[in-house]
Amino acid sequence: MSTHRSVILGCGSYLPERVLSNSELAKMVDTSDEWIVERTGIRERRIAAEGECTSDLAIAASRRAIENAEIEAGEIDLIVLATSTPDYTFPATAVTVQAELGITQGAAFDVQAVCTGFVYAISTANAFLQSGQHTRALVIGAETFSRILDWEDRGTCVIFGDGAGAVVLEGRKLNGAANERGIITTRMRADGRYQDKLYVDGGPSSTQTTGHLRMEGREVFKHAVVNIASVMEEALDEAGVDAKDVDWFVPHQANKRILDGTARRFGIPEERVVVTVDRHGNTSAASIPLALDVAQKDGRIKQGDLVLMEAMGGGFTWGAVLVRW
Ligand code: UT7
Repeated sequence: MSTHRSVILGCGSYLPERVLSNSELAKMVDTSDEWIVERTGIRERRIAAEGECTSDLAIAASRRAIENAEIEAGEIDLIVLATSTPDYTFPATAVTVQAELGITQGAAFDVQAVCTGFVYAISTANAFLQSGQHTRALVIGAETFSRILDWEDRGTCVIFGDGAGAVVLEGRKLNGAANERGIITTRMRADGRYQDKLYVDGGPSSTQTTGHLRMEGREVFKHAVVNIASVMEEALDEAGVDAKDVDWFVPHQANKRILDGTARRFGIPEERVVVTVDRHGNTSAASIPLALDVAQKDGRIKQGDLVLMEAMGGGFTWGAVLVRW
């Protein structure tokens, strides 16, 4: 039993300026605003500017999260950055962020679990804080998926977008209060038998190219519904809480139909679901922290609220996190 709990001190996000609308996409591939909205709920997404890298998005989001947490960057001793679109094969994008923030202590590394990346990253940081090995962690989800899309494949290019979100966590001694703040439980899962359902067809060791995203959308959709539900159930059971106790459901923003279906299945009313997929598209590892930041800034998520996050992505990987904000 751990003696520490990871408390979320603050969050921040950043989106590139350039908005790409559905109607613009309809001029590029055989699609329509109507199809995209009906099948995904997406209306627009952001695209990084030429020369704007994943680290640039991550740094901007991190600065905002650190400011919101009311700490100094130098107090952070762990950076875990989730991305599938790093600036370079190595070093990790996390060390670029670390250097730019002027942090010279602790550890910094990337985590790669595609759309489940943020859940994996926050679960990893939580384990280090619970062990007492690190004290304050910056957990980032940052992506420039526009760089790995096949812009002629209408089945994928309409879905993804660029962006970054970050949270600052602090390991605190458990105080035993009933509604104690912090991460209550995390769940990470993977099943590599399904890796060919959603993958990038290039890489340093295989093709020596970056490659493009390939997805069997319908197959991913089918598994997403089942896997997400099972991991949410596990997280709620372990914490001994009911779905009706959840104040805010913050799902990975993949497709509005998946979010709505999952919320309905758990009896979580629509007004307690944070939805940003309409404005951001699917930003993979960035989508949960982007949504958290939107809902904290607009006053929905408040200190003491019970927040349930979930994600599912390539691998397959999937997972859930339950936190008292
Ligand atoms: O975040 C990581 C996890 N990823 C996901 O969770 C994504 C999960 N999958 C999905 O969200 C959905 O499967 C998609 C949005 C990708 C696709 O929606 P769908 O309802 O599963 O469509 P579909 O792939 O079954 O395609 C239905 C039809 C096909 O035409 P036919 O074969 O019925 O004639 C497609 O060719 O829609 C066609 N289609 C399109 N039509 C217009 C596929 N993409 C488009 C498009 N515009 N952009």
